[in-house]
Amino acid sequence: MRQSSLVVVANRLPIDDNAPPDGVCEWRRSPGGLVGALHDILAHTPATWVGWAGGAGPAPELPDIGRLRIHAVGLSEAELADYYEGFANSTLWPLYHDAVEQPVFDRSWWEAYQQANRRFADAAAEVAEPGAAVWVQDYHLQLVPAMLRERRPDLLIGFFLHVPFPPPELFMQLPRRTELLRGMLGADLVGFQRAQGAHNLAQLARRLLGAKATDRAIELDGRTVRTGAFPVSIDVAEMQSLAARPDVVRRARQIRADLGQPRHVLLSVDRLDYTKGIEHRLTAYSELLRDGDVKAPDTVLVQVAVPSRERVGHYRLLRDRIEREVGRINGEYGRVGGPAIHYLNQRFDRAELAALYLAADVLVVTPLRDGMNLVAKEYVAARTDGDGALVLSEFAGAAVELDEAFLVNPHDLDDLKATLLAAMDASAAERSARMAAMRRQVTRHDIRAFTRAYLRSLDDSGALAASVT
Ligand code: UDP
Ligand code: G6P
Repeated sequence: MRQSSLVVVANRLPIDDNAPPDGVCEWRRSPGGLVGALHDILAHTPATWVGWAGGAGPAPELPDIGRLRIHAVGLSEAELADYYEGFANSTLWPLYHDAVEQPVFDRSWWEAYQQANRRFADAAAEVAEPGAAVWVQDYHLQLVPAMLRERRPDLLIGFFLHVPFPPPELFMQLPRRTELLRGMLGADLVGFQRAQGAHNLAQLARRLLGAKATDRAIELDGRTVRTGAFPVSIDVAEMQSLAARPDVVRRARQIRADLGQPRHVLLSVDRLDYTKGIEHRLTAYSELLRDGDVKAPDTVLVQVAVPSRERVGHYRLLRDRIEREVGRINGEYGRVGGPAIHYLNQRFDRAELAALYLAADVLVVTPLRDGMNLVAKEYVAARTDGDGALVLSEFAGAAVELDEAFLVNPHDLDDLKATLLAAMDASAAERSARMAAMRRQVTRHDIRAFTRAYLRSLDDSGALAASVT
């Protein structure tokens, strides 16, 4: 086995198996912001990515991506159900997102979570060179840092949480809270999207472990664990060059033509997830149609809802509710050849997304809670024309940096309706001033800045950060 001096461990590999009905396997980029953020930058880095390729069964043989080596970990059907769909996505995910859906505490899932974490930790321990850095990602693998330290004390271990880290009153509900906390604190550096995450961790470390803790460092078992905020970002250059491609510009024009050249194109792009506030957005849009504030097909909403975690109950129910509501709204307010909502339950590639961003007058991002929301940053990066308006929930991590967006509280339907109208009606001068400020921010803090800041903080010799080109 080839060894590596930078190892990334994440539940998801950056590519997954898109097996069409004819059974011929084809690899494509996996869903979600974690992969979106790290895929491009690591493709040029001599590193190894340890993760799961989707589906049940033994680990498949996978191609490397540029200089990035891929090391697959297989998950059995039972692990998929109890570790991934169970503890990770039915217990931790809802709890970490303000319990917007009820977290499920099923005792039988804990063992599978531990077992799967153990296997990811073992795989990382095998591929890491002596003294290497291992960068563990996200809530699926919270026990990996401590497991790895036990087996390989020579390693430099980082942990980064892509989702929000909840306040103590929520975290304290977790039946295995102390083990989860100790697991993360096996790292040398624990990174969060927002400073609030580090603050919450310090409070919990004091309360549950009696540790000496500040918002920057936690003393535990004679070690110091550093903590901090590192807002994740996107590959701005990649999105800009996509948006400048003649075929993408042509495709954007074609999309507007296919939509019937409406005056206002609203666009939303989300995984089909209850944290994204899709239902709140549909209610607001439907009331605007009802009240005559907007009219279809003069105004249309394009909703991309990427299939996600489809075997988990909350997700199945959400899809049913959304599809019923889209049908109702189109039934009431659409006309032949002119629906009010264009609903797409599909995953698109980067070029098609860039074309959609260029075609949209307003991007509507309304999560009830979101670690960051990279779609918002991608829209800003794609709008090299300086036009377009962004409606952005205050509860997305991105709102901290993109405070020139039309910020909104998605729980407040009247605020949401008024903000949508304000974004649609904003003058060209206002749109361009807001977009220019947001573009400056996203360009300064792109994915390279994020990766370098994190790795520099993990390894103050600077060698790791320099390995990322
Ligand atoms: N995305 C994609 N194809 C799609 C829809 C989304 O590749 O059809 C990507 C999108 O470009 C972004 C990521 O999925 O990079 C979503 O990240 P975000 O942080 O917005 O949300 P998450 O899914 O991680 O909760
Ligand atoms: C979020 C999580 C990621 C996850 C992604 C897609 O971005 O933070 O860890 O990979 O959603 O979800 P999935 O369950 O398909 O991996």
